[in-house]
Amino acid sequence: PILGVLASGRGTNLQSIINAIDAGQFAAEIGVVITDKPEALALERAKDAGIIGICINRKEYNTREDFEKALIKELHAHNVEHIILAGFMRILSPLFIREYKNHILNIHPALLPAFVGAHSHRDVLEYGVKISGCTVHFVDEGMDSGPIIIQSAVPVEDNDTEDTLAARVLEQEHIIYPKAIELYLNDRLQINGRKVLIKS
Ligand code: GRF
Repeated sequence: PILGVLASGRGTNLQSIINAIDAGQFAAEIGVVITDKPEALALERAKDAGIIGICINRKEYNTREDFEKALIKELHAHNVEHIILAGFMRILSPLFIREYKNHILNIHPALLPAFVGAHSHRDVLEYGVKISGCTVHFVDEGMDSGPIIIQSAVPVEDNDTEDTLAARVLEQEHIIYPKAIELYLNDRLQINGRKVLIKS
């Protein structure tokens, strides 16, 4: 299977997926890494791993539709079958989601459905919850709302800052994202309404 990874930033989740493939955790090839920002470190990581990395700069497109058409064109050009969102900081439109329905995975750094959006660690600390974590889910047309595949919980410590909490959560992200992709590619996931059943 050919994966397309979309990222906006430093790409540590991308790296964990590259490492999992190298270690033989699942059989897949990353056909292309696409970022929406030219400075994304994810492009360097792709290059270092011998993977094609492309920037489709959102700023060069007038509308989201045009931007997404360019994305889809590039994904098709590299025969991508499954989309892995790895810190891709843009909301994809229904047009894009429908193109790859049930073939898009995302990781969110909180225990969904709590703390959706782009500032979950800050929101977690402000709210005062004692447990946070991360969630891998299928992407549907809502925001962080698709069926949940795996979650992992981590404690929130009294003296946590956004950075210390993020680091603790990130360690878990790097474990559960490859695991979720493994289950997905091995056809172990069955979507049943809101629920994802893990077949044995
Ligand atoms: C991760 O915390 C991920 O959960 C969130 O964005 C961050 C991306 O980090 N969606 P990285 O670019 O994979 O290092």
